[in-house]
Amino acid sequence: MISYIWAEDEHGLIGASGKLPWHLPDDMAFFKKTTMGHPIISGARTFRSYNRPLPGRQNIVLSRHGNFPDGVLVVSSIEQLCELVADNPQKNYFVTGGANLFSQLLDKVDRLYRTKIHAQFTGDTYMPKIDYSQFKQVKKHPGLVDEKNHYAHTFEVFDRIG
Ligand SMILES: NC(=O)c1ccc[n+]([C@@H]2O[C@H](COP(=O)([O-])OP(=O)(O)OC[C@H]3O[C@@H](n4cnc5c(N)ncnc54)[C@H](OP(=O)(O)O)[C@@H]3O)[C@@H](O)[C@H]2O)c1
Repeated sequence: MISYIWAEDEHGLIGASGKLPWHLPDDMAFFKKTTMGHPIISGARTFRSYNRPLPGRQNIVLSRHGNFPDGVLVVSSIEQLCELVADNPQKNYFVTGGANLFSQLLDKVDRLYRTKIHAQFTGDTYMPKIDYSQFKQVKKHPGLVDEKNHYAHTFEVFDRIG
């Protein structure tokens, strides 16, 4: 199966100049806990924003170029990626972005892990439009706000129904 995991602001913003628009350690901890042990799939631009394989997970990067660190499986087309996913039906593949990759797998994604940040930021990259009528919310809980986590946020999970 394929899951998406991302954080967006009130306007669906997800990126600014190749980075995240915010610093929110509680969401990073949620990302780590949720994806640990599962394969993660990133677009080349998202991978370059941290530029090292994330430990404890198979790191798959979509790119038409090959120059990535050891420990990264480079996949050069969506078709090749879909074959890999179809060949491993027992695995939960987490697509970690960015917008470019999210927009290409909209009809394939089974589960959505959305962190909604209740604030507005400036940036240049937005989540593609998702038809939420095809999904049902199955979880929702508030994130931690404290001296390290300045923005109210909500963790939500949606499963495909249609
Ligand atoms: N808020 C969040 O949760 C979140 C999550 C992820 C990312 N982001 C942000 O989103 C921004 C990056 O997103 P983005 O949309 O610009 O880029 P992206 O999706 O991360 O990467 C796009 C790149 O992936 C490769 N690619 C995409 N489709 C491909 C295909 N079908 N076949 C082969 N390669 C393919 C291409 O790289 P090549 O040019 O190498 O071929 C393409 O230029 C950053 O600001 C990042 O911080 C935010």
